[in-house]
Amino acid sequence: LIPQLVLGIESSCDETGIALYHQERRLLAHALFTQAAMHSEYGGVVPELASRDHVRRALPLIRQTLEQADCQLTDLDAIAYTRGPGLSGALLVGASIGCALGYALDIPVIGVHHLEGHLLSPLLADPAPEFPFIALLVSGGHTQLMRVDGIGQYTLLGETLDDAAGEAFDKSAKLLGLSYPGGPELANLAALGMPGRFKLPRPMLHSGDLEFSFSGLKTAVLTLTKQHELDEQTRADIAHAAQAAIVEVLVSKALFALKQTGLKQLVIAGGVGANQLLRSQLNAAATRKGIQVFYPALEFCTDNGAMIAFAGALRLRQQEPQVGYAFDIKPRWD
Ligand code: KG4
Ligand code: ZN
Repeated sequence: LIPQLVLGIESSCDETGIALYHQERRLLAHALFTQAAMHSEYGGVVPELASRDHVRRALPLIRQTLEQADCQLTDLDAIAYTRGPGLSGALLVGASIGCALGYALDIPVIGVHHLEGHLLSPLLADPAPEFPFIALLVSGGHTQLMRVDGIGQYTLLGETLDDAAGEAFDKSAKLLGLSYPGGPELANLAALGMPGRFKLPRPMLHSGDLEFSFSGLKTAVLTLTKQHELDEQTRADIAHAAQAAIVEVLVSKALFALKQTGLKQLVIAGGVGANQLLRSQLNAAATRKGIQVFYPALEFCTDNGAMIAFAGALRLRQQEPQVGYAFDIKPRWD
């Protein structure tokens, strides 16, 4: 019997995400608490503070989500929690709450791979892509191109050799004095920038493979910030150049992956997928090349509980849940 109503719990980093997914009625409700404001004064996520805040937020958010969906705790058929990768203390909060609830309700629990959540999140949208497709996974920790042939059938085609695209956004933003998380702020500042004043390197653009490298870009931004008086316009111009460089590489490699595999559908997942320049350039390329690009809704691009409930629900259709309620998180997980 496939569990119908699945509660999803995401707590791998600095967002507490909770959602209810029903196998037939789809996403019923979801709620999110983001800790960004709390971490911003430290310029990055403080793991200990993150764990403590998940402890504070998770149960009230679960209650809120149940109320939104007009459900009771006892209606739950299964629980999916993020097993990794992520911050160990933060993961432990979601895992222990998920397993404790599972134990109390005597229902199965399943640990979900956070990146599988991101990867499958575009399937929550309508219209959704069909297998097989290429996924560009661009988050704060990962930049990967993947061929997706089905649930659990993923082939890594290429990935970053150093910094992730989100990291490149965040580190460039920090060099320009923007607050954490810098990606969206850098994008806003870039909108005021003058195109073409600065030209930054496009790392590995012509490497002939699907690998990425972004650490050189950060160094190039650092050099620019040292060479110039950082008035408002100059900061915006540098932001413009940084965003243009990151986006051009992402678009070019994603198109290359489609060309190599002959596939026609591209799915964008992860926080950087919220970037408007990336979206507009991919959409322009899609029209030119007769391909289709799919994005998760903006709220499901960054970390959220819906993607975990959803990935858990899909996994529960084809695999046995874990046995017992001993949880083992995987802070590092390929
Ligand atoms: O997927 P995500 O929420 O968390 C991870 O699992 O890493 O991605 C967060 C990353 C951060 O680096 C953030 O700066 C970036 O996504 N990001 C953006 C935008 N929104 C979020 N980067 C560029 N433009 C955006 N609009
Ligand atoms: Zn994520």
